[in-house]
Amino acid sequence: MSVQILDGKSIAADIRAVIKNRVAVLRSAGGRPPGLAVILVGENPASQIYVRSKSSACAEVGFHSEMHTLPTTTSQSELIDLIDRLNADARIDGILVQLPLPNQVNEEAVIERILPTKDVDGFHPYNIGRLALRMPLLRPCTPKGVMTMLERTGQPLAGLDAVVIGQSNIVGRPMALELLAARCTVTICHSRTKDLAEKVRGADLLVAAVGRARFVPGDWIKKGAILIDVGINRGEDGKLVGDIDFATCSVRASWITPVPGGVGPMTIASLLENTLQAAELHANMSVWETDGKP
Ligand code: GUN
Repeated sequence: MSVQILDGKSIAADIRAVIKNRVAVLRSAGGRPPGLAVILVGENPASQIYVRSKSSACAEVGFHSEMHTLPTTTSQSELIDLIDRLNADARIDGILVQLPLPNQVNEEAVIERILPTKDVDGFHPYNIGRLALRMPLLRPCTPKGVMTMLERTGQPLAGLDAVVIGQSNIVGRPMALELLAARCTVTICHSRTKDLAEKVRGADLLVAAVGRARFVPGDWIKKGAILIDVGINRGEDGKLVGDIDFATCSVRASWITPVPGGVGPMTIASLLENTLQAAELHANMSVWETDGKP
């Protein structure tokens, strides 16, 4: 059986087209466009590229979007003040604070300050808690994008042995919660995991979010496994490569995501979905300004 490519670029383009239509319908009924505020603190080059892609995706689908670029020296209270203003702004449905933040700023406190219904990253403890309890509201974008891709394979996920490499709050942990909710048997691996290769060899479904170029070699892969590569790294030749060694792993897999053009575009498509969902929540909430919990 030959491997099939999970084309995130094309699935994400389909999603953007559906959202663009939905926005046009909302607007023709006299509604305002969904609004996203993106906050970037400092000058991390990777973050600058990510937020630019997020803003241009908003423009493509007809969202209102605004960029708030703050200096590296921004204090915790200045950032909190901005979030409070955006929480109270009726044109803004989603607030995204690009991570990482400079050391003087407490990331957890910033995330907790965002109203849960405006937390389009899905990182607020309220939204993570809802996902853990199988009653998701706004779901973290990368894991949500991965689940959308997995649905497109048409493969049933219930009962699969799933291995997630990486335990970050942004990807690994919420990814494991998503797969658990889909009734996989989930193992989370990280830098202290014993015998990683053996654990990966048992995986029917592997999600790699390690951040190291070609970290997973072909001989770790079970025949017929589904391989999801969240990594975006520069190879020795300067080209973008994933955490999974595509050449040696793809020959054993049933499905694999490419890098680039796999998970990356799906993360942004999920952000747009979340912002539209937040706008619909706000349109249906009578007193949404109280605590942002519907
Ligand atoms: N930094 C890396 N990935 C992400 C993400 O999905 N959202 C935010 N806010 N920051 C990130």
